[in-house]
Amino acid sequence: MYTSTPPLLGNWGGWAVILFLIPLYYARFHWDEVVKLREAFNKTVDLLSNTIDAKDSHTFLHSERVTAIAAALARAYGLDAAQVNTIEKGSRIHDIGKIGIPDAVLFKPGSLTEEEYNVIKKHPEYGVRLLEPASDYLSETFDIIKYHHERWDGRGYPEGLAGQEIPLWARIVGLADAYEAMTAGRPYQKAKSPEDALSEIEDLAGIQFDPKLVRLFREIWETNPSWRDREVFLRLYSSKVPSLESSSPPFLEPEPETSQKSS
Ligand SMILES: [Fe+2]
Repeated sequence: MYTSTPPLLGNWGGWAVILFLIPLYYARFHWDEVVKLREAFNKTVDLLSNTIDAKDSHTFLHSERVTAIAAALARAYGLDAAQVNTIEKGSRIHDIGKIGIPDAVLFKPGSLTEEEYNVIKKHPEYGVRLLEPASDYLSETFDIIKYHHERWDGRGYPEGLAGQEIPLWARIVGLADAYEAMTAGRPYQKAKSPEDALSEIEDLAGIQFDPKLVRLFREIWETNPSWRDREVFLRLYSSKVPSLESSSPPFLEPEPETSQKSS
């Protein structure tokens, strides 16, 4: 611009350069702000996820493992990077509504009464309501939060959607959530081995879960050991998150794919 003959913009010379640099500077400044905002937002999602997991020490890192499984399933399904990213975000906070469930119900040892179970069943809708003020940033995750407990046969909650009516992202997270819960166990229910949990998932294909997703789940279960075994996942994940190490099992080398240990 400065040296071209004839000079760009008549005889403005150096002033022309400044004229072009000002908008470039502001564009760059604005982009930096967008990146910072996005980073702050991602950290907020992490914080929400840690809050949910911290509330229930029995299911330590539950949301993180659900996220790892759901992302693997989404990739195997052929979803693009943007959709996988949304599924990861939604998985991390899928149970955020549990913050609104009284501890006496959420952590009750033993089986729940029908009334108590009805209270638990409100957590998907509580979650969406809780995040409504951040809908500009999070609305794409709302389907995951609201519908992750729907069942393929229509006997889930909150709306009793069936089959393809259930948003795909929610079907993916629902399956990942169920496998993680089976292998984590509960105070009233012993954790299942990865093999037993897989077998139960397959038994429920077409009943609770999307049969196509169950087929994909088996394929990635056989080839991806990083989340298949809960203890292996906790060791691997804890080694990457220094702030959580103190409350995590000590790090051991990743186990080979042939690990048969139950959770
Ligand atoms: Fe849930």
